[in-house]
Amino acid sequence: MEPDVPVNVERDVVLIFDTTLRDGEQSPGATLNVQEKLDIARQLARLGVDIMEAGFPAASPGDLEGVKLIADTVGREPRVDKFGHAAPPPVICGLARASKGDIDKAWEAVKGADRPRIHTFLATSAVHMEYKLKMTPDEVLARVSEMVAYARSLCPDVEFSPEDAGRSDPRFLYKVLAAAIEAGATTLNIPDTVGYTVPEEYGKLIRDIRENTPGAKNVVISCHCHDDLGLATANTLAGVENGARQVEVTINGIGERAGNTSLEEVTMALYTRSQVYELDTNIITQEIHRSSDMVSRYTGMVVQPNKAIVGANAFAHEAGIHQDGMLKNKRTYEIMDAGTIGLSQSKLVLGKHSGRHAFRVKLEGMGYQLADDAVDDVFKRFKELADKKKVVTDSDLEALIGDELYKPPETWRIEDIQVQCGTTLIPTAVVRLRNVETDDVVTDAGFGTGPVDAVYQGINRIVGTQSRLVEFVIQAIDEGLDAVGDVTIRIEACEPIGTVERVHGGRGRRIFSGRSIDTDIVVASAKAYMQALNKLMAAREETESVLAVSL
Ligand code: KIV
Ligand code: ZN
Repeated sequence: MEPDVPVNVERDVVLIFDTTLRDGEQSPGATLNVQEKLDIARQLARLGVDIMEAGFPAASPGDLEGVKLIADTVGREPRVDKFGHAAPPPVICGLARASKGDIDKAWEAVKGADRPRIHTFLATSAVHMEYKLKMTPDEVLARVSEMVAYARSLCPDVEFSPEDAGRSDPRFLYKVLAAAIEAGATTLNIPDTVGYTVPEEYGKLIRDIRENTPGAKNVVISCHCHDDLGLATANTLAGVENGARQVEVTINGIGERAGNTSLEEVTMALYTRSQVYELDTNIITQEIHRSSDMVSRYTGMVVQPNKAIVGANAFAHEAGIHQDGMLKNKRTYEIMDAGTIGLSQSKLVLGKHSGRHAFRVKLEGMGYQLADDAVDDVFKRFKELADKKKVVTDSDLEALIGDELYKPPETWRIEDIQVQCGTTLIPTAVVRLRNVETDDVVTDAGFGTGPVDAVYQGINRIVGTQSRLVEFVIQAIDEGLDAVGDVTIRIEACEPIGTVERVHGGRGRRIFSGRSIDTDIVVASAKAYMQALNKLMAAREETESVLAVSL
């Protein structure tokens, strides 16, 4: 390893900079409300990320508030590291374009954290400078110096990114990066914004930057890769091999277009192949599965079953030949232990006669430390499920816990639904909803192309909100005809609710997601839709109150 990277003298550590709440959340359809962002931030802190990019405060007043809340809470809470020692809270970072207005907002949002960071960026590729920024290279250079210096006058920790570095002229990059260091940047992040580079090229870019940029040895060099060619993880690892000591990643690899480098892939590659890389991270790998599940639930972005590390099939050994080998010796086909990423290894089987105590022991065995009332809620749901299904599997339990614990605040709750459908009937649904605020119960009916559509039409008639269904995904949690159905849906409001400023230009619409489980897939679909609508209505209220304040 190169000795001159200014990170950690005892262990050679790659810093994990998580941008799930910024680059991940900015991907169309991954909208999170403030409570969800806070929950994810807490989980990321528990996971052990070193730096957390909590958002883009200039995107909207709501985004600024969200980052500020995270900085003022998670950013001040000490935690426990992977060795069980007391550790400081993560660095809380806010993104800003290279303008005073954005930098002021980022500082306003992060300054309450024990360890705040401002991350500012400006594009350096010819195509971006000419067509997007309409600036000459000299103007870009001057702006970088000015804005990094301005950010540094506010905050001791400043990161600079030359956007689209992967397609920038390297000689111009060295100049811009040197100017950023001169102006006070402490981390230089090298984005492959459009996922264009290949590993050898990206690795060389990092090496060349380190060798040709005056002052580079005194700052941390960071990788930020997008997955348009499916190479984000490979590129990031190539960057690390060439001396980068920070990686910018997201949980489940969510992010714009094909997404960002996934945290779990890089972390587990460094962990599993430590003899190749000889590098460590501060990630508590046992928290990976839980983090992935939470992000998937809150964003409504379903993890593909064959996704490395966190996909449902990643540790399932289906083919008979593999099972045979696994029974003889696990290492024949398994390079990682499921327990390492926090997948349940508990062998205690629960059935309909299991009591509350056994249930609690089971949850603890699965790594869940829940408060008494949360245990009660999940236990009630478990009993209902155990009445319908012979065997309640660990996956069922995890889904139940997710369903109960990650529920958004409700305006309307489903009291009852009845559906009629068949080969000759027009699908019809009677829906009864309770307004949680007024306690009114309203009944109405809907017709549709199928039973789910009929239920949705009935709900729409009561709630009176117009939305467009963007995505509907149904999965079986386990095998068997009595499997629990897991429905994820995403909807878009027909009216413009809470649009946000996008990092790469333009304004984006918000998408709202819902996810629910039930042995009856029509019920699961109805509950998921109700959740998404409740989020949409809460966002509408938030937008109206922000507008009222600014008028
Ligand atoms: O991909 C990118 O260029 C970014 C920057 C804003 C860092 O996300
Ligand atoms: Zn990015």
